Amino acid sequence: MNAITIDGPAASGKSTVGYQVAQQLNFLFFDTGVMYRAVAWAILEEEIDSSDSDAVGSVAEELSIEISSPTSEQADGRQATVRIGGQDITWAIHSRRVDRIVSVVAANSRVRQELSRQQRSIGMTHGSGEGGKAGVVMVGRDIGTVVLPEAPLKIYMLAPVEERARRRLREISLRGKEADFAQILTDLRRRDEIDSQRAVAPLRPAEDAYQIQTLGSSVQQIVDQILVLAVSRLGVEAVPDSETASSADSASGADQA
Ligand code: CDP
Repeated sequence: MNAITIDGPAASGKSTVGYQVAQQLNFLFFDTGVMYRAVAWAILEEEIDSSDSDAVGSVAEELSIEISSPTSEQADGRQATVRIGGQDITWAIHSRRVDRIVSVVAANSRVRQELSRQQRSIGMTHGSGEGGKAGVVMVGRDIGTVVLPEAPLKIYMLAPVEERARRRLREISLRGKEADFAQILTDLRRRDEIDSQRAVAPLRPAEDAYQIQTLGSSVQQIVDQILVLAVSRLGVEAVPDSETASSADSASGADQA
């Protein structure tokens, strides 16, 4: 199975690194966080209380989250386009209102059951090469432990919370939005705590995961480190950057599950 799992705390660089690894291996890149964010967004839209576990569980079970590779008109820095009922919510799911409730929503056992089922199905299809790609890079919190525990290469990315807050601040300002460092730091700490303390599928490294401390390394260095592991563990070949530059195929969809 050609699957690489990348787990780790909020803003540890999983998506940036995972996307580039996927590009170079001609693998599908799939960021599972967008699905939890989409459910959180739907809950806010429907004005449901995030602590109402029955109502939240039902929303996740009924929601059809559409995820696709961005078209050339949508090329605004996104890795994937996320839609619900045709509405493009790609950037809306990264708002502070969603950040504030997403971990509570993701701790709901029915939400997890439904989304992990969809994610596993996507992972198995693409990991076995049946989805048109050579494999899959799947990013989240519980991919190596719960969603694809049989993946031959598992990564767990770490960085001190202050460094992660600086990275998130930079990302937000690159999108032309205002943000406050102290507020980001508080939000990340809170999210990490809920994600690692929850009863179902808590954030933790799989026993056989390679732990990568990213402080002091460039994105390219970490990407290269993972590519070396992928070549030896999966027996795949990396495609040079220049050949992957135009094929920004980055996502699959829950609807394909
Ligand atoms: O990008 P960032 O690291 O801030 O977060 P994300 O990967 O988009 O995930 C948002 C939230 O979804 C996390 O804080 C978790 O609560 C939840 N999540 C999860 O529980 N399991 C996953 N496999 C992915 C995300």
